[in-house]
Amino acid sequence: MAEIIIKSNENEAAELVADFFFKQIETNPKLVLGLATGSTPLKVYELLAEKIKRSNIDVKSLQGFSLDEYVGIDFAHPESYHSIIDNHVTKPMGLDPAKVNVPNGNYETIISAGPDYEKAIAAAGGIDIQILGIGTDGHIGFNEPGSSLASRTRIKTLTEQTRIDNSRFFNSLDEVPTHCITQGIGTIMQAKHLILMAFGESKAEAIAQSVEGGISSFWPASALQMHPRATVVIDEACSSKLKNAQYYKWAFEHKPTWQGL
Ligand code: F6R
Repeated sequence: MAEIIIKSNENEAAELVADFFFKQIETNPKLVLGLATGSTPLKVYELLAEKIKRSNIDVKSLQGFSLDEYVGIDFAHPESYHSIIDNHVTKPMGLDPAKVNVPNGNYETIISAGPDYEKAIAAAGGIDIQILGIGTDGHIGFNEPGSSLASRTRIKTLTEQTRIDNSRFFNSLDEVPTHCITQGIGTIMQAKHLILMAFGESKAEAIAQSVEGGISSFWPASALQMHPRATVVIDEACSSKLKNAQYYKWAFEHKPTWQGL
């Protein structure tokens, strides 16, 4: 089972995760980071960028692989995941842009984009730590309910719910792309350590189903139950539907060997 960490609020959770990432980068400057977009990890990225700047550690050898991208969106569009990663990760952390990868959602090359991305991840030696958010429908990356738990990077059709959720980043629902290219669940499961973050009541059902429900492609994040090292970091509001919340808190407080997360 994943380790469940319940912090009182989003800021405390982000501090914990940013500290952990920073320590890992300090000990391994060649770390391969798995990056997520969406609003959930933004505070972690901000805190991590501050820590990197204050420390003067050399981050030029770090590599990054983002989870997904919309199909057909201009890279320069402010809501493309190329732009989001560039503005919230690559630039503020001072990473080498040539080492930060985002799946290619261009129509012209879309057929080969999935296998190409898989090859690039493999060539980097695999992802060391993958940060994940979760959709209200339980998706990770853009692996919507029903996605194969063994899937690899490929094109997916976004659900109406995800397009509605993401319409807050666009001027209207019509502007939200209908398709994406996303790492598969099988791809995500090969990262050495998964850290899934979720905040707020709106994610409580998805977290409860994924953590305490059965393993099912209809709650894609439930695949984490099969991962040897998965950590789920949530706030109080997001823990509201967990049956065993008190136990997770107790277990975290009584963790015998502190390993950073
Ligand atoms: C984004 C991604 C998605 C988001 C999820 C939650 O790269 O992979 O799975 O993590 O849609 O989005 P937010 O964080 O905006 O609630």
